[in-house]
Amino acid sequence: MPETITLTVNGQTYQVDVEPHALLVDVLRDKLGLTGTKKGCGTGECGACTVLMDGQPVNSCLVLAVRAQGKEIITIEGLGDPQNLHPLQKAFIKNGAVQCGFCAPGMLLSAKALLDRNPRPSEKEIRQAIAGNICRCSGYVKIVKAIQEAAAELRGEAAHDGV
Ligand code: FES
Repeated sequence: MPETITLTVNGQTYQVDVEPHALLVDVLRDKLGLTGTKKGCGTGECGACTVLMDGQPVNSCLVLAVRAQGKEIITIEGLGDPQNLHPLQKAFIKNGAVQCGFCAPGMLLSAKALLDRNPRPSEKEIRQAIAGNICRCSGYVKIVKAIQEAAAELRGEAAHDGV
């Protein structure tokens, strides 16, 4: 039996009818039309479905939608928009850190959660923070560089090549 639940996503409140077993990733994509969140493995392995829940990255393929009630959910649509990209998004583009793009939404949100709690992460800390986000295209080098540059920009320091 579907039930009506209330979700807060990117600061907006939605009332949506869901089955008790509905997964957050499916509700975001299919019911709310927020298709920036990707579904890869569906089993918590790839990180493509990463969203922020009360600031913490979670695999939305492992979260029941009903359990997301009362939480602040941020998806990639809430990070920035084409007219006003988040520094992380700008840095990913500048560094060519997006190739096929499938991992990018989850990667960016994991990076945001890291920079929110640690504005000056080491390379090791960056790699740990994105360890759950699998990228099949890159060797992660450009992604790590982009996150370092975005961190510098967010700290108000001039990002320059070779950061
Ligand atoms: Fe959720 Fe892969 S789709 S971790």
